[in-house]
Amino acid sequence: MNSPTPDPLAITFCGLSFASPLVLLSGCVGFGEEYTRVAGFSNCDVGAVCLKGTTLAARLGNKPHRVYETPQGMLNAIGLQNPGTDHVVKVILPQLDFSETRFIANVSGSTIEEYIEVTRRFDDSPIDAIEINISCPNVKEGGVAFGNDPDMSARVVAACRAVTKKPLITKLSPNQTDIANNARRCIEAGTDAFAVINTLMGMAIDAETRTPIIGNVQGGLSGPAIKPIALLKVHQVYQVSKAHNIPIIGQGGVASVEDALEFLIAGASAIGIGTALFYDPLLCPKINAGLRDYLQRHNLTSVSQLTGTLRTPEIIPTCAS
Ligand SMILES: Cc1cc2nc3c(=O)[nH]c(=O)nc-3n(C[C@H](O)[C@H](O)[C@H](O)COP(=O)(O)O)c2cc1C
Repeated sequence: MNSPTPDPLAITFCGLSFASPLVLLSGCVGFGEEYTRVAGFSNCDVGAVCLKGTTLAARLGNKPHRVYETPQGMLNAIGLQNPGTDHVVKVILPQLDFSETRFIANVSGSTIEEYIEVTRRFDDSPIDAIEINISCPNVKEGGVAFGNDPDMSARVVAACRAVTKKPLITKLSPNQTDIANNARRCIEAGTDAFAVINTLMGMAIDAETRTPIIGNVQGGLSGPAIKPIALLKVHQVYQVSKAHNIPIIGQGGVASVEDALEFLIAGASAIGIGTALFYDPLLCPKINAGLRDYLQRHNLTSVSQLTGTLRTPEIIPTCAS
């Protein structure tokens, strides 16, 4: 008997089976339950769901306003509102349906010790993988985000690596000079995969009152406005990660099948969908259908065949303007 033809959208990511290369992004889907109330939405349409950033103790988050719509994007400064690791592990994880998709924890912290403890507790849980959000400020070293400094990034990754054998995904910040160097350091420190990119820092001002609109003054910019930056960062990280077979979840402004294809071609193995869900919760099945159509038209049998297939002319990088 012939074995069934493999689904062209199915991928293996860090040894995990994903039914689709699409991943729902942290902070945009609550703890995996948020959109399941929307008619027609199903976690089965995506390969994995990243849960909201989780800290050791519960956090109430920032004062309002926490979100603000910008041209082609949004600013957010939620402030990592979450019920704390023990609640997530003991109360939320048992309610998730692991037969539908893979679930990824998003670990956040203010100190390396907090990252270690949160990772340790998720390691001792049924979660499929652990994503470390290194964009949080390091309170012991002047409040600079861990992810904006290669040394601090590598220290967080090494510390988390030491306490878990689960797949470890490092979420890189675009708010730094040399993301490729940071990626190199995180690979040396033991990461299994990358998520590229987290939000870019921005702000908005109410000119009448001359006050910042976001309660936290600054917030993370996401959505289509950041897509060209995110694509370049994926391309740059891929130059480092491909030799080590370290896969990338490309993300930042994906809102269509064309966007998803661009991220795959730039070097992503999976594609994150975040802000776009706020205005189209049923986007994922449409992107899946568009990917199937593209693969058929290009005589490809697996979406993985697209990863890193960018055809680049021989160029010497120079000043763009
Ligand atoms: C409201 C909101 C909350 C977010 N919360 C988190 C978070 O807790 N942890 C994290 O790593 N990223 C968080 N992010 C970043 C997203 O996971 C994603 O990396 C980013 O928004 C870029 O993708 P997008 O343009 O498709 O939204 C958040 C984004 C938004 C819009």
